Amino acid sequence: MSVLIETAVTTEIASLLESCTDTVTAAAAGLPEGLRRSYRWLRRTTGQLLFERRYGVRTSEVVSLAEFGLARQDRVYYSAANWQTLRRALPRRDVGEHDVFIDLGSGMGRMVLEAAARYPFRKVIGVELSEELNDIARKNIAGTRLRLRCEDVHLVQSDVLDYEIPDDVSVVFLNNPFRGDTFAATIERLIATVDRNPRAVTVIYFNPVEEELLLGTGRFRHLRTVTLGRKAAQDGPFGSVRVYAITERAGA
Ligand SMILES: C[S@@+](CC[C@H](N)C(=O)[O-])C[C@H]1O[C@@H](n2cnc3c(N)ncnc32)[C@H](O)[C@@H]1O
Repeated sequence: MSVLIETAVTTEIASLLESCTDTVTAAAAGLPEGLRRSYRWLRRTTGQLLFERRYGVRTSEVVSLAEFGLARQDRVYYSAANWQTLRRALPRRDVGEHDVFIDLGSGMGRMVLEAAARYPFRKVIGVELSEELNDIARKNIAGTRLRLRCEDVHLVQSDVLDYEIPDDVSVVFLNNPFRGDTFAATIERLIATVDRNPRAVTVIYFNPVEEELLLGTGRFRHLRTVTLGRKAAQDGPFGSVRVYAITERAGA
């Protein structure tokens, strides 16, 4: 099914569910566990779609990079983190007006929007491989009815490997965007920016599939883990958010 038809159909389902939420919720309580789980998924998905319709943004589809001829071994397809991910992982009091946020692999810009709308960041940056996804992110920022607290938003279309991470970035968001060598090289670049310009940097890693690579550098201190959804604990890294600080170089 094309992403446009898929969106139209799910938006119709969202409207239908919205008009009879109480009745459906009461009925779902008596269902077997498998069906209850499907119902919870449907409710969460429709809730996100209604949120998007209300605020005039489009970020919900799942998109394969093969659609744009960009699929490679290390690159992960587009699928947005839940809208609540940043809010759960990063307390507002931890962000000040000098902080700079970056989402590496920013897709349609959901986390860029959340960062700019919710926190007083000085600057918010998204870096995305696909021009098509980045264009949608641009339209989302330009057309949203969300009130943005940070208006200095930059959406860069680039392979992360060709992008120089700025030395003033202080909050890094990763939603399992790439793996293997690409992930390892990006982590090395993050460490290098801290070594060039020593400062506090928080890394928020959603679905932390490559956590071993990250911890293997010896430069990340785990601060906390936040789980999203009931199944998260059984699903390995999926559904959890790990938050780390990059530590100083030994002897620095
Ligand atoms: C799982 S999605 C996350 C999207 C977004 N961060 C969010 O949470 O809403 C991963 C994104 O990383 C992008 N990506 C994959 N490989 C990349 C690379 N080498 N450089 C930049 N972006 C990449 C994909 O195109 C996709 O949009």
